[in-house]
Amino acid sequence: MAPLWYTAGSTLLLSSLSAAAWPYSTYTSMSFQPPKLEVNKTGTTEPGYLFLGPRGGVQPAGQAALIYDDEGNLIYEGPEEVTANFRVQKLNGQDVVTFWSGTMMDLGFGYGAVHILDNTYKEIHTVTLTGAFVTPDNSPRDSYIDLHESHITSRNTLLVTAYNVTQHDLTSLGGNSSEWMLDSHFYEIDISTNQILYSWSALDHEDQIPLNSSHQKLGADVGSQEKPYDAYHINSITATNNGYMVSLRHMWSGYYLFPNGSIEWQLDGANGGDFAQVGSATFSWQHDLRVYNETDEGLVLNLFNNANTPTDSETPTTGVSLAIDLVNKKVTGLRSLTDPNDPIHSVSQGSYQLLNEADGHVFMDYGSISKVKEFDGDGNVVFSAQFGPDNAVASYRGYRCQWSAVPFWKPSLTVNKTSDDATVYMSWNGATDYDNWVVYSAASATSANRTQIGTAKRTGFETAVTLDSPPSNSIQVVARQGSTVLGTSEIVSF
Ligand SMILES: *[C@@H]1O[C@H](CO)[C@@H](O)[C@H](O)[C@H]1NC(C)=O
Ligand SMILES: *[C@@H]1O[C@H](CO)[C@@H](O)[C@H](O)[C@H]1NC(C)=O
Ligand SMILES: *[C@@H]1O[C@H](CO)[C@@H](O)[C@H](O)[C@H]1NC(C)=O
Ligand SMILES: *[C@@H]1O[C@H](CO)[C@@H](O)[C@H](O)[C@H]1NC(C)=O
Ligand SMILES: *[C@@H]1O[C@H](CO)[C@@H](O)[C@H](O)[C@H]1NC(C)=O
Ligand SMILES: *[C@@H]1O[C@H](CO)[C@@H](O)[C@H](O)[C@H]1NC(C)=O
Ligand SMILES: *[C@@H]1O[C@H](CO)[C@@H](O)[C@H](O)[C@H]1NC(C)=O
Ligand SMILES: *[C@@H]1O[C@H](CO)[C@@H](O)[C@H](O)[C@H]1NC(C)=O
Repeated sequence: MAPLWYTAGSTLLLSSLSAAAWPYSTYTSMSFQPPKLEVNKTGTTEPGYLFLGPRGGVQPAGQAALIYDDEGNLIYEGPEEVTANFRVQKLNGQDVVTFWSGTMMDLGFGYGAVHILDNTYKEIHTVTLTGAFVTPDNSPRDSYIDLHESHITSRNTLLVTAYNVTQHDLTSLGGNSSEWMLDSHFYEIDISTNQILYSWSALDHEDQIPLNSSHQKLGADVGSQEKPYDAYHINSITATNNGYMVSLRHMWSGYYLFPNGSIEWQLDGANGGDFAQVGSATFSWQHDLRVYNETDEGLVLNLFNNANTPTDSETPTTGVSLAIDLVNKKVTGLRSLTDPNDPIHSVSQGSYQLLNEADGHVFMDYGSISKVKEFDGDGNVVFSAQFGPDNAVASYRGYRCQWSAVPFWKPSLTVNKTSDDATVYMSWNGATDYDNWVVYSAASATSANRTQIGTAKRTGFETAVTLDSPPSNSIQVVARQGSTVLGTSEIVSF
């Protein structure tokens, strides 16, 4: 019989706190209901907008890919869906937005596709993964890309993770010889053709990644096809000079791979693995492991150190930077970021984004705790924002990204008329660069003849202008940057 362990869990489950517990915004020109951001800006931040994908106890009309500015104004809301990894990346030298969307399983992974949009928000690529995957409910899915990774490489390919259900001998863990478990896979995919260029499976390397080194114990309640054992929990892939580096959360380890997929070395957060730990170089239950400044002698690793699970509240979560010395086989702690005024215990998810290598600013998303923070080069918090109740709303990852977009759709407007006046509500979802509006009265709904009747500075997501006596009942608005027209609405009659 399997020992009765509580499964520590990297579960994506969130508590079912009521969404009403957190305020959300509403608009007249759009039916969005994004969560309000509570923002504390205490220093100078790097340029860029906040990219989040809240889910869980969010208003349905606010569960979407969201962009905000530092003042908490909504900039963009995507379709209502569960997303992950919403951010800007470079594809063939161009800025694109990328995100995963799909279904999250209670088991801690998902099935979906990666969407790539250009700077007008046109979907230019939809990356999917098909194959002989086995699912907990035996029902096939259109695409097996898991939520945990959607990284575009410098060679313009996509790295993604996938979870496969398989049967395996777990007698060494106290189970039986044919238990069900999750194998952790990753793939490098050609973005235009969905062709698989590289694939890797953790279970193929059982000799080098023994199952008994998992910190996720085989609970008595797992081991069936519906509830497979999650020994590895793959959650980030980064391309290295010759291969890849993989983060397996349940092993508390990063694995540096040879091109053939064998493990060249292991960094273990508990004991260093192939390296002697110098100073504070420990981590556990990590996410978002990234490689920098790689040479034959060494490299820098950044990661989000959860250090907590739903059943195991340990020291506060930190952002960790480590120097790996390949010559002397040492790992040295370089940075450990935490807010002393707001220690956070993030039991699942999270991300660490190095914003600027020169000044050392770092942006962290705290996963199951619905907060993001930016740290400066000295480790001081310069920005904090919260977008939901802790452990009820999560964004798997969160980013600060510079982004400039002119949407392919037109600005929206709604006119609310009273007996005395009319108020025009204008917005242009996703448009970053306009700063003022011009309001025109049109002779009719189809008339090209229009008269300027008002102007307004942009105020956040939606701008309102009240008109005393509009000369006609047809209005058209124009979004401008200075005097340059960026977008023109339909003519709306009221
Ligand atoms: C998933 O596991 C099954 C065994 O359960 C195996 O037959 C199948 O090939 C695996 N799928 C992939 C894509 O490796
Ligand atoms: C794990 O299993 C291997 C054999 O596969 C054994 O050599 C090793 O001692 C075991 N480690 C632990 C911690 O049980
Ligand atoms: C092995 O364990 C799993 C999970 O507890 C169970 O579903 C399965 O029936 C067991 N198989 C055998 C052959 O005992
Ligand atoms: C993978 O490559 C490494 C480095 O070249 C080599 O040592 C190892 O034997 C290879 N493994 C397999 C299974 O071929
Ligand atoms: C990489 O090296 C450069 C030059 O020494 C340095 O400025 C930069 O901070 C390093 N990046 C990281 C992530 O350590
Ligand atoms: C902002 O600061 C206030 C006052 O110190 C605090 O109560 C709140 O939790 C902070 N919010 C965030 C997101 O840091
Ligand atoms: C504008 O009119 C719509 C439809 O009648 C109404 O739902 C909305 O609350 C009004 N907005 C404002 C700000 O009065
Ligand atoms: C355009 O409309 C204005 C009043 O709204 C009217 O005075 C003018 O004659 C119209 N011009 C044309 C070319 O129809």
